[in-house]
Amino acid sequence: MTTIEQIFDLFNNHGGSLYFGEQVTETEHALQAAHLARQAGASNEVIAGALLHDIGHLMHGLGEDIAHHGVDGKHEDVGAEWLEGKFPQVVIDCVRLHVAAKRYLTATDPGYLEGLSVASVDSLRLQGGPFSAEEVAEFERTEPNFATAIQVRRWDDEAKVVGLDVPAVESYRDVLEAVLIA
Ligand SMILES: [Fe+2]
Ligand SMILES: [Fe+2]
Repeated sequence: MTTIEQIFDLFNNHGGSLYFGEQVTETEHALQAAHLARQAGASNEVIAGALLHDIGHLMHGLGEDIAHHGVDGKHEDVGAEWLEGKFPQVVIDCVRLHVAAKRYLTATDPGYLEGLSVASVDSLRLQGGPFSAEEVAEFERTEPNFATAIQVRRWDDEAKVVGLDVPAVESYRDVLEAVLIA
């Protein structure tokens, strides 16, 4: 299977579980995030990053309620590792940094926390809580793609609308082909 066929297979055959304590499935969540990016006129890299940000959830087999078991599955690292060598760094960073971006936003945007879902606030604690001032500064200094990752995070947080009709994963074939390295 090509990388793109593997991605389609993951969403079509492994993305049907509810997303992390939400009322949308993993696949619905990813498609909504990608759709928000596409509607906002984001680049192909960033649309791909939004689509793939939680791909690690579809691979690690830990189930969808790991927050409630007190385990941090590190799905951002699982996903980023799988994408390594297949996609440009900015795509990988959207995936790798999407949890850090939440920790960053809870520290820097006063209204951000109240906009998060209950499950997302729950998992925040397991993920280390809001960044300290030092961590905020370090994130900005050491991550060249931090602003892009934060933008993707905002779409991630919005992408939990029950019953929203959005284009299927196959509609992202061109986007993925345009950015794919191997
Ligand atoms: Fe996630
Ligand atoms: Fe997500």
